[in-house]
Amino acid sequence: MEEKLKQLKEKLAVVADLQAAAALLGWDQQTYMPPGGAEDRGHALGTLARLAHEHFTADEIGSLLGDLEPYAASLDADSDEACLIRVTRHAFDKETKVPAEKVAEFAFVTTVAQGAWEEAREKSDFSIFQPHLEKIVALRREYADYFKPYDHVYDPLLDDFERGMKTADVKAIFEQLRPLQVELLQAISERPQVDDRFLHLAYPEKDQWDFGVDVVTHFGYDWKRGRQDHSVHPFTQTVHLGDVRITTRFDPERPASMLFSTMHEAGHAMYEQGVAPRLARSPLAGGTSLAVHESQSRMWENLVGRSRAFWTFFYPKFQKVFASQVGNVSMEAFYKGINKVEPSFIRVEADEATYNLHVMLRLELEIELMEGRLAVKDLPEAWNARMRDYLGLTPPNDSLGVLQDVHWSGGMIGYFPTYALGNLISVQLWEKINQDIPDLESQIAAGRFDGLLGWLRQNVHSHGAKFGPQELVQRVTGSKIDPMPYVRYLKTKYGDIYGL
Ligand code: CO
Repeated sequence: MEEKLKQLKEKLAVVADLQAAAALLGWDQQTYMPPGGAEDRGHALGTLARLAHEHFTADEIGSLLGDLEPYAASLDADSDEACLIRVTRHAFDKETKVPAEKVAEFAFVTTVAQGAWEEAREKSDFSIFQPHLEKIVALRREYADYFKPYDHVYDPLLDDFERGMKTADVKAIFEQLRPLQVELLQAISERPQVDDRFLHLAYPEKDQWDFGVDVVTHFGYDWKRGRQDHSVHPFTQTVHLGDVRITTRFDPERPASMLFSTMHEAGHAMYEQGVAPRLARSPLAGGTSLAVHESQSRMWENLVGRSRAFWTFFYPKFQKVFASQVGNVSMEAFYKGINKVEPSFIRVEADEATYNLHVMLRLELEIELMEGRLAVKDLPEAWNARMRDYLGLTPPNDSLGVLQDVHWSGGMIGYFPTYALGNLISVQLWEKINQDIPDLESQIAAGRFDGLLGWLRQNVHSHGAKFGPQELVQRVTGSKIDPMPYVRYLKTKYGDIYGL
């Protein structure tokens, strides 16, 4: 069995190497590639993806898994080996149950749909996108059917992003969360608004960059195993565990954007940098799910980066660098400004108190589409009705409404809930961290983040993808994903800022 395990690991390492090559090409595509490289880069990435898929779904992997599974059952279920075999089997089944021609059809339909979505968004005309989305929904239903029996048609889609998570769990979490968030938002809207005019001034790009670098260096982002570059949309790209890169962007209209997105991406990157090196070049070498990933990025961005403790240390530095912008702004006013709550149309610009409502709206619509209870043609109306109910706003057009996000055109149904789940997990972990490190706040106020990062490394990062999201959260906090810590956090934070 030792020999078979070794063979499996070697074959999986080849897949990991192909994925590393694709990752680097993908990173380059979004940073330095000249425009003329686009077409052939697309071919190169397509070839690498195909090769990785072929190697991973090869019959030898299937028979090695079959041989090793009885052996895995005799191992400690938490051991690297047992987890590797379990996680590989799950991914293997996912990649082999759908016929290759269906995968190709889906790739084609979504490629065409992206172009249609871009045009529809530009013209704010949903009817251009509608037939494409109808095809995508039909194909996603077919996809789900390859994984029958399921409890819910949305389960196989959700599982692509959150291994093992069920639609029923997500629904229960969000049904508990939504009325509490709507109620909080209502209470905030009745209070005087905070002033954040100082965040709408020009801040020099280089100073912003340097400040962001200083912050994430303090956090513990490892520059010997990473680097930062510019890109249109900020992202983190793991090439392999020794090379986890981040990008940021300069947005002259929103000077705080670079600062907070740098913290956000560093949060993603530190998760990957913290995976145990012994898991390298295997399916366990990375974050376990999008929600757990987002819990890390949102923790550093919001729970740390938008806290009083953090700015107790950094605000004097910030004021010195940006003297003409905030020289006369007190720390208290600054703190309130960066935490301003204001319902808006666009998800990616939403603050902490409104963000999850944007996500819940999408999740509910996705589930109804998949269940066949909502027709694609009725989607804009359903979207606008929920925007009114949850955020008190009516989008003036579809570009600011149902057409704003790229995900559906790419066929990514099941992705949105991960954003909100990440927020919830971040605060669940935070409560536990504060129990384990009672002076966490004063450490942060002194510019020390090693206690926090060390805790995350030990309890979350080092495990890589060994445990699914629910299992990981349960192991670390003692309960499954639970919205109540997040609600408590929002109520305390915004109760203080808005005097509720
Ligand atoms: Co993120």
